[in-house]
Amino acid sequence: MRLIENLKWRYATKKFNPSKNINEADLETLKEAIQLSVSSYGLQLYKVLVIKDHKLRKELKDASWNQAQITDSSHLFVFCNYTERCEKHIDNYIQATAKIQGSPLDKLSAYGDFIKGSLSQKTDSEWISWSEKQTYLALSNLLMACAELKIDACPMEGFESDKYNEILGLKRKGLNAAVIAPVGFRSEEDHTQFRKKVRKPMDILFELV
Ligand SMILES: Cc1cc2nc3c(=O)[nH]c(=O)nc-3n(C[C@H](O)[C@H](O)[C@H](O)COP(=O)(O)O)c2cc1C
Repeated sequence: MRLIENLKWRYATKKFNPSKNINEADLETLKEAIQLSVSSYGLQLYKVLVIKDHKLRKELKDASWNQAQITDSSHLFVFCNYTERCEKHIDNYIQATAKIQGSPLDKLSAYGDFIKGSLSQKTDSEWISWSEKQTYLALSNLLMACAELKIDACPMEGFESDKYNEILGLKRKGLNAAVIAPVGFRSEEDHTQFRKKVRKPMDILFELV
C-alpha cells in the first residue's frame, strides 16, 4: 500500500527549503483533500487560511515560538474553528444537502432539528473543544495528501492562538486559530529527516477484544 510507504517517508519537517514552492495544481489538490475531510454531522465547522504573504508570516513567526517553518515553508495553513454556537451552520448544511442531493427540504429539516437539539446539550466550552477537534481531522487529511504528493509539512500547536486571532482578525469573524501546518519542501540540512520514527509497538498500541 502506497499510503503506508508515504507515511513512513513523511516527518514533521523542522527546516524547509525557502526557495522551493508548491505549484498551483498541487496546492489545489491539498485544498481538495481538506475539503473532503470527514466531520461530525458533516458540518465542517472551520475555515482554513492558506497564507503565502511573507510579511504576514514574519509577524506570525513571532507568535509561533519563533519556529522557522512559519516563514521558510511555501505556504502556511491555519485551521480556524468557529467559536459561536450558531444555528446558521446547521441551516446552511441542510440547505446544501437539499440542493446537492436533491432531497426534500422538509424531511431534511427534521434532521437539522435533531442536530440542533443534540448540540444544544453541549456547554459553551464543550462546543468550542468539539469544534476545535474537527480541525484536526482536516489537518490529518492535509498531512496524508502531502505525503502522497511528496510534499513536506509540519503539524503545529506551538503558537499563541490569541496572537494569531489578533493578527489575522479572526475574532470578529467568529473564528479561532486551532492548529497550523506549514507546508513546502524539506531542506537537505534538516537532520530530523534521517531520524528513525518512534512509535509504540503494535502489541502495546492495539488490543484485540
Ligand atoms: C497537533 C500537533 C502539534 C505539533 N506541534 C509541533 C510544533 O509546534 N513544532 C514542531 O516542530 N512539531 C510539532 N509537532 C510534530 C510532532 O512532534 C511529530 O509529529 C511527532 O513527534 C511524530 O514525528 P513525525 O511527525 O516526524 O513522524 C506537532 C504534531 C502534532 C500532531
